[in-house]
Amino acid sequence: MILGHGDGYVGVEAYWIRHRAAGVNPSAEFPAAAPPRQASHSTCQNGRVFVSTKLCEAYHRYLGATRSDPRVEPFSPPHHEHVPMSDTAVSSPPTTDDFLQQADRWGAHNYAPLPVVISRAEGVWVWDIEGNRYLDCLSAYSAVNQGHCHPRIVETMRQQAGRCTLTSRAFQNDQMGPFLEKLCNLVGYDKALPMNTGAEAVETAIKTVRKWGYKVKGVAADAAEIIVCSDNFHGRTTTIIGFSTEDQYKDGFGPFTPGFKVVEYGDIEALAGAINDNTVGFLVEPIQGEGGVIVPPEGYLREAARLCADHRVAFIADEIQTGLGRTGRLLCSDWDKIRPDVLILGKALGGGVYPVSAVCADDEFMGVYEPGDHGSTFGGNPLGAAVAITALDVIVDEDLAGRSAELGDWFMNELRAIDSPHVAEVRGKGLLVGVVIADESGPAKAFCKALMKRSILAKETHEQVIRFAPPLVIDRETLEGVFPDISAVLRGEGVATS
Ligand SMILES: Cc1ncc(COP(=O)(O)O)c(C=O)c1O
Repeated sequence: MILGHGDGYVGVEAYWIRHRAAGVNPSAEFPAAAPPRQASHSTCQNGRVFVSTKLCEAYHRYLGATRSDPRVEPFSPPHHEHVPMSDTAVSSPPTTDDFLQQADRWGAHNYAPLPVVISRAEGVWVWDIEGNRYLDCLSAYSAVNQGHCHPRIVETMRQQAGRCTLTSRAFQNDQMGPFLEKLCNLVGYDKALPMNTGAEAVETAIKTVRKWGYKVKGVAADAAEIIVCSDNFHGRTTTIIGFSTEDQYKDGFGPFTPGFKVVEYGDIEALAGAINDNTVGFLVEPIQGEGGVIVPPEGYLREAARLCADHRVAFIADEIQTGLGRTGRLLCSDWDKIRPDVLILGKALGGGVYPVSAVCADDEFMGVYEPGDHGSTFGGNPLGAAVAITALDVIVDEDLAGRSAELGDWFMNELRAIDSPHVAEVRGKGLLVGVVIADESGPAKAFCKALMKRSILAKETHEQVIRFAPPLVIDRETLEGVFPDISAVLRGEGVATS
């Protein structure tokens, strides 16, 4: 039995890989281990790979023989012990299929991912375990606006991880204050309340405006209403899915939290008609990303903000996906020159390396909180706060919003110029782009699979929409370089019709 030693591979397998990397053919020099072990991942249990005694002995002979080989990286053999086993009970480096089967076997089936297993990422690129490179056109749903493993963000994380990662919220830490100050100054609010995931921040915003409704606006106890939109996506907690209009998100998860009213997204009359004395908030995505990159009619958000102001209703913008540069402005609300009463951020706030979210608002709203009202063990932790400081700096220093605006314009113009019966519509802002596939052309998924074959990773949102949202650090040359492939797929080349 050989125990793992920390680089994701174990024992002979790690040695094999190191030798291959050094340009040495281990099968020539280490016949007992060639070809690399054939058994599946099932022989790798609890981090242990089972190999035969014979293989162990050969491995040690090999270690002795190659220790002075300059082509081979210095390597400390892992702790090991011999267990008599059959010579066939050995495992090889896991394949794509192994990982897919493993995730399928051990994970709940709550996603239907493309069959690619990514093990490395940098900037706009990701690599699968076989070394194939892809352009990431999804950016973890806009959580990696700054690009994968941005060196400044990773360095901050590394340094902070070695210094202090988590303090109880019963104490202060030296990163949270600077993070909140930077965030508030950047987006222009009195205060911010840090959380971790997007859904938690949405829950926090809901709690904030409800409490504001009771304490400040004077709504009767338990009567507060929040208006939300059709096709919304604000996360997956039971309260949030309770006001989703997507049947699947709710099916089997009731009962749900009362106090929400749904109106048609983009319909200002519907909003006006839904507001009453108990309305404390209007929760809206400036563009509905998960809903299918739905851009509301021109002027809708401005008019909605005005209605809210007139009726003393908190305008709550969920900019978890649209914020922090994604749509070509720091906030998507900036396009309409509106300042939400309550702003929700997440995803790219953590620079793609750590979950950080926040709710930002002025004292009128944040002033409702007293110690003990709300909290989170990890919210505002020093590791996340340090990462978020650098994540924000990168967005500003690299003018990611400006880049998104410029490249988004170019990209959408090029997409609109494609002459294809399969493309029903191209919509979006900045580098949040949705290509609607015509119903007659079948689901967008087939187009995403064809894109993947051309080394472009994009994913459909709802049945008919392909979302293109590459990391904002992408450059014109890269986008131009892949455009012929995108164009070919959208014209139907290599798309399997079902
Ligand atoms: C607009 C919006 N709100 C909330 C969420 C939920 O964020 P999280 O998955 O981090 O909980 C998402 C996630 O896609 C989102 O797009």
